[in-house]
Amino acid sequence: MRPFVFINMAMSSDGKVSNVDGKQIRISGKEDFERVDELKLSSDAIMVGVGTILSDDPSLTIKSEERRKKRISDGKDENPVRIVIDSRCRTPPSAEILRRGDGKRIVATSDRADEEKMRAIERYADVIVAGEDKVNLKELMDILWKRGINKVMVEGGGELSWGLISSNLVDELYIYVGPKIIGGRNSPTPVAGEGFKEKFPRLKLIKIEEMDDGVLLGWKFMESM
Ligand SMILES: NC(=O)c1ccc[n+]([C@@H]2O[C@H](COP(=O)([O-])OP(=O)(O)OC[C@H]3O[C@@H](n4cnc5c(N)ncnc54)[C@H](OP(=O)(O)O)[C@@H]3O)[C@@H](O)[C@H]2O)c1
Repeated sequence: MRPFVFINMAMSSDGKVSNVDGKQIRISGKEDFERVDELKLSSDAIMVGVGTILSDDPSLTIKSEERRKKRISDGKDENPVRIVIDSRCRTPPSAEILRRGDGKRIVATSDRADEEKMRAIERYADVIVAGEDKVNLKELMDILWKRGINKVMVEGGGELSWGLISSNLVDELYIYVGPKIIGGRNSPTPVAGEGFKEKFPRLKLIKIEEMDDGVLLGWKFMESM
C-alpha cells in the first residue's frame, strides 16, 4: 500500500517552470494561489526535491491563517508534514522548510548521506534513510503509508516528478498554465530525468478550469509502465 500521490506545478504558457538560471518566476495569480493553499489544507504531506529547496528555499507552509486554524480544529498539525527528497542531505539546516511554521518535517535520504549532515538536520526533521544511491521512492512511500500519511501533494521540481512518474507512484497531475512566456532551451520543465523513449504514460483529462488568465489542467494516470 502507498499514499495517494498527486503532483501540482505551475508552468508558463511555453511550458517552463522557472527561468534558464533555475530562478523561481511567479507564474500563478491570486486565484491559483488560493487553490494551492486549499490543496495543502487537505493533504497529509507536501513533498519537494532538494533541487527546489536549494533554488527557491520555500517554506511550504499554509499561508491562510483560517486554513491553519481549520487544521488545528480538525485535530491536525497546523501544516502538513513537509518532506524533502535529498539523498545526500544537502538541505541546509537554515532552510525555510526546516525553520518556518509549526508541523513535522521529514528529510528522506540515502546511504550516501554524510553522517554529520544527517545529525545537523535531525535537530529539525525526522531523517528517513531509504535507498543506496538515490532515495528509493517506493520504499519511502511504503514507510509514509505506515506512518499514517494517506495523501501526498508533490510540488516539484522536474527531477522529482520524473523519479515518481517513472516509478509508477503518481495518481494525478495538475498543471496550472500561466499567462507568461519564459523561454530558454534549457529552462526547467515539469518533468525532467532521462525521459521516456518508447512507452509513455497514458493520461486521462479530468479537469480543465480557467483562472487568472491561465488554465488549470488535471490528468489521471491511466496505466502503469
Ligand atoms: N513552477 C513550479 O511549479 C515549480 C515547482 C517546484 C520547482 N520548480 C523549479 O524547479 C527547479 C528545481 O527542480 P529540479 O528538477 O532541479 O530539482 P528537484 O526535482 O526539486 O530535486 C531533484 C533532486 O532530488 C534528489 N533526489 C533524490 N532521490 C531522487 C529520486 N529518486 N528521484 C529524483 N530526484 C531524487 C536529487 O538530488 P540528490 O542526488 O542530491 O539527492 C535530485 O537532483 C527550480 O528551478 C525551481 O524553481 C518550479
